[in-house]
Amino acid sequence: AKPSVYVTREIGPEATTLLKNFCDVTIWAQSEPVSRADLLSNVQGKDALFCLLTEKIDKEVLNKAGPQLKVIATMSVGFDHLDLNEIKRRKIKVGYTPDVLTSATAELTVALLLATSRRILEANEEARNGGWKAWSPFWLCGPSLNGATVGIVGFGRIGQEVASRLKPFGIKKLIYTSQTLKKNELDAQHVSLDELLSTSDFVIATCALTPETKEMFNDDTFKKMKSSAVFINTSRGGVVNQDALIRALKNKTIWAAGLDVTTPEPLPLDSDLFKLKNCVILPHIGSASIETRNEMAVLAARNIISALKGENMPSELLT
Ligand code: GLV
Ligand code: GLV
Repeated sequence: AKPSVYVTREIGPEATTLLKNFCDVTIWAQSEPVSRADLLSNVQGKDALFCLLTEKIDKEVLNKAGPQLKVIATMSVGFDHLDLNEIKRRKIKVGYTPDVLTSATAELTVALLLATSRRILEANEEARNGGWKAWSPFWLCGPSLNGATVGIVGFGRIGQEVASRLKPFGIKKLIYTSQTLKKNELDAQHVSLDELLSTSDFVIATCALTPETKEMFNDDTFKKMKSSAVFINTSRGGVVNQDALIRALKNKTIWAAGLDVTTPEPLPLDSDLFKLKNCVILPHIGSASIETRNEMAVLAARNIISALKGENMPSELLT
């Protein structure tokens, strides 16, 4: 018999066909995420699991799946939704999708930064609702990237691509913090977090969510930033203490924030963040270019097929 795989959402024809050529495929074919109960019942007895960042893969899911589960492939670069300790203990292989989403996510980060600093959404709203009375010297002004110091927290693949895309905007100085990378080819300077926070005009979070980065943006760290600072987060909502961010935006401790990720997701409509004009909120679309989403699905499918064949996976998450 063919190996079996459970896929937690529609993943497009190319990835689906790849999987079907090699596996018995069961798909959660609805537009909403699979419910916990359906996930638990559908994962039983499967050889492979194709999941998204909307599914929490923990001990309970792994226990339900049973001992024949050999591989989990997530269609994401982030893996904070996976309990890696439990997965590793069971010797289950893990695939993820780095690289193929780097440029799309870097593009979106730049778009969000400019939308936030130059108040694009607020301006569009004013143009439509009658707020546009006349050209006006200081109306809808925001800080420029030209001459700015940009600080990137987490200088991995995505952080470095953000940096190289921002350089042509005439930034004065590029600084970063990183657990691992002390040198780079971008003429960026490795600094302490305190120095980054206190000197950056733009603070951009592109780090992974780990126990070390959880809520690293909090009352303390927002207070260290310039009151003119723009904060951009395209990593995970969990790196921010959101109540502290709301306070910082309300009290003008910082100037503005642009968020592609929040806690929780989706962000409830009654969240105070939606009431703040100096906050731009996107529904987690960092990697959402047409080409990229398909490449992510195909890479996750290939990760599964290779693992089931006992071959090296194109993108194995080694932990
Ligand atoms: C998106 O957030 C991803 O982790 O791929
Ligand atoms: C993930 O954050 C990456 O840098 O690819």
